[in-house]
Amino acid sequence: MQARHRAPTGRAVSRRKPLLLFRTIFCGEMGLNMEILRIDGGRRLDGAVTIHGAKNSALPLLAASLLARGTSEITNCPQLSDVAASVNILRHLGCRVERSEGTVAVDSLPLSRSDVPDSLMREMRSSIIFLGALIARTGEAHMSFPGGCELGARPIDLHLAALRQLGVKIIEERGRLLCRAGGRLKGTAIALDFPSVGATENILLAASTAEGKTTILNAAREPEIVDLCAYLSRCGARIQGAGEGAITVEGVERLTAAPYRVMPDRIETVTYLAAGAVTGGRLALRGAEPAHIATVLPVFEEAGCELTCRPGELEIRAPARLRRVRSIRTMPYPGFPTDAQAPLMAMTSVADGTSVFVENIFENRYKHAGELIRMGANIKVEGRVAVVEGVESLSGAPVECTDLRGGAALVIAGLAADGTTSLREIHHLDRGYEGLDSALQGLGAHIQRIEE
Ligand code: EPZ
Repeated sequence: MQARHRAPTGRAVSRRKPLLLFRTIFCGEMGLNMEILRIDGGRRLDGAVTIHGAKNSALPLLAASLLARGTSEITNCPQLSDVAASVNILRHLGCRVERSEGTVAVDSLPLSRSDVPDSLMREMRSSIIFLGALIARTGEAHMSFPGGCELGARPIDLHLAALRQLGVKIIEERGRLLCRAGGRLKGTAIALDFPSVGATENILLAASTAEGKTTILNAAREPEIVDLCAYLSRCGARIQGAGEGAITVEGVERLTAAPYRVMPDRIETVTYLAAGAVTGGRLALRGAEPAHIATVLPVFEEAGCELTCRPGELEIRAPARLRRVRSIRTMPYPGFPTDAQAPLMAMTSVADGTSVFVENIFENRYKHAGELIRMGANIKVEGRVAVVEGVESLSGAPVECTDLRGGAALVIAGLAADGTTSLREIHHLDRGYEGLDSALQGLGAHIQRIEE
């Protein structure tokens, strides 16, 4: 992915003009093209779209592949910039990686390093997921702190505490992590204060080849955890309880590479459902897994949508006018997923009535609300609570992606709005959605990816 030099995006409207000027001149002189999405709203979506493999499963699976000796063929792997960043890290470590369409083949045998340079860590925040696998494979790992992101501080204290319990010596200095195992890791009982997805994944990766048994209490239960455990088991790991709150891992000597197909992306599924809902459309989502979003589907029904689940397909039919959704509280799985909060906020901003959101997972995940308000949404944010008064219609406007799912929310709002929306900073979208604009075009949306 080409590095983009861009001016820090100011939040306040008053600071926007100078920044915009700087960015236009700077990027113009540098010959950098700033891609934007232009959306002419008000068109009903109709048709079928195939759901891609899940970003949040593909990333830990790629990290896990360095643990399994030989060549693992990961199929249904989405073509995203975060996946490209993971491939760059694997290649930096010495692995041979071949990519063709949705298949990533990782040969981990030539792995020869245990450091991840700053530049690669900065390309993708979730690079921390390489920590457990690298320590288990090489006995050490050197990488910088992943740092915060648009969603907040993104601490890794739970990851580090768990790895220390497994016997890893960790020195944190000058923003870097220096980790050393000093021999084979030792299985132990680990109780997580919070069912962190990333921490659960790092523990699974480090414990799979540790000596003895590891139990994870208060483990994350997300479908992506189940996917990771299924791949590790296929490589020879001995894991019980995947998807439950208590997982046990009996360490084995080594893991052997195996092929694996990435599960469908449940957040991409919700994003398309919301796009269909706001346009009064009718969409068939091929390859979707309704069971993974069992707590989200009732929200669409409460909003007045009709859902039909068939084997390997989920269909939505939306009403001309959506109804409000009483309350949405984000929770760890199987509760309502935090990644679906922004797309659903865009959807309810044009529903009839007041919807209330409570964001319980991340401390700062309402940045998209400001951009939706620029489009005419009526949203009041107070700490973790956002109150959305549905409006008759939104108006197209120049807006900016604040983060991956916030960007998706603005695409959804643009599809519903009267007039034209121009969406900047769409590199956020490319991290987690493969071909979103072309798929929406195929469903009848007037959306174009152009150079600003
Ligand atoms: C994963 O992030 C996902 N990312 C996120 O998706 C998702 O929102 C999140 O899980 C929750 O479901 C990937 O899988 C790559 P967490 P992760 O550890 O692992 C706190 C997207 O849009 N915490 O479950 O980082 C943390 O600050 C992305 O696709 C600690 O305090 O999530 C947060 O408040 C965004 N200490 C909460 O736990 C720690 O050591 C949830 O974090 C770790 C986490």
